[in-house]
Amino acid sequence: MRLDIHLTEADQSRALRADARTGLTASPKWLPPKWFYDKCGSELFERITELPEYYPTRAERAALTAHAADIAAATGAKTLVELGSGSSDKTRLLLDALRRYGTLGAFAPLDVSEPALRAAATAIDADYPDLDVHAIVGDFTRHLDEIPAGEARLVAFLGGTIGNLVPAERAEFLSGLHAVLAPGEWFLLGTDLVKDPAALVAAYDDAEGVTAEFNRNVLYVLNRQLGADFDPEAFTHVALWDAEREWIEMRLRADRDMTVHIGELDLDVSFAAGEELYTEVSAKFRREGVFAELSAAGFAPLHWWTDPEGRFAVTLAQAQ
Ligand code: AVJ
Repeated sequence: MRLDIHLTEADQSRALRADARTGLTASPKWLPPKWFYDKCGSELFERITELPEYYPTRAERAALTAHAADIAAATGAKTLVELGSGSSDKTRLLLDALRRYGTLGAFAPLDVSEPALRAAATAIDADYPDLDVHAIVGDFTRHLDEIPAGEARLVAFLGGTIGNLVPAERAEFLSGLHAVLAPGEWFLLGTDLVKDPAALVAAYDDAEGVTAEFNRNVLYVLNRQLGADFDPEAFTHVALWDAEREWIEMRLRADRDMTVHIGELDLDVSFAAGEELYTEVSAKFRREGVFAELSAAGFAPLHWWTDPEGRFAVTLAQAQ
């Protein structure tokens, strides 16, 4: 197994400082969702995927279970690249199907979280002895150039993570991905679908409060990594459905007036009681929208598969 680090601790802390300064001095205040995923945040996300209300992981797994063999047969991929790979749990369905089909030689997971990536890549390396595992610590919005060269690559971007990008960011990401692929190579995209708002909101505001803890974890990350003195428990988790933009928004609402000092930035940030810090959007999709965005970036969307209940889709597209 090989593990390449394109995002060093120093790069990460520089990027976190820049994002924290930009986001916390903006109005409204915001922080990008990628900073949820330190070791603790990655573990909290894994707990989210097991919650009764959080259906996307199970629904995507159902879609992949039903269609992994179709994906293998359609692509005949030799290399599977996975962006934002996290635990790479559902990816095993694709690895198994491609191995059965007989074409697969290499697996290249890419993730910002080194601990999560190392654990996932090590486990897959042990369980698939013939597979060449090449893990990349990187940011899928910045390090697409680092995807290993290869023939007949299939790039998977699962979990609905593309929903964390707003439309302009998605267009930039998709064109950037298209630019590193050769015509004929493949892209498999997982997208959560528009549905009953009550079910959507429940998935992001679970009864046990795990998502609330995950949301507040970003403040613990700033405390630990930037010497900030947030009182995370003085923020209330907010999840709401924006019907116009068709996305879930997560925010952290200050319960009282407070001033937070960010040591490493030499910055004081004041919150008024009730003020909201925007921490994540999670866009939900429809088939027409997914196909239009892929086509605009130079991909031919060829297959659309959902779980039996139609909650989550995986789209297979080919670079033109
Ligand atoms: C990992 C980005 C797909 O948007 O559903 C889960 C993250 N946020 N609960 C999502 C998340 C709150 C998740 N993604």
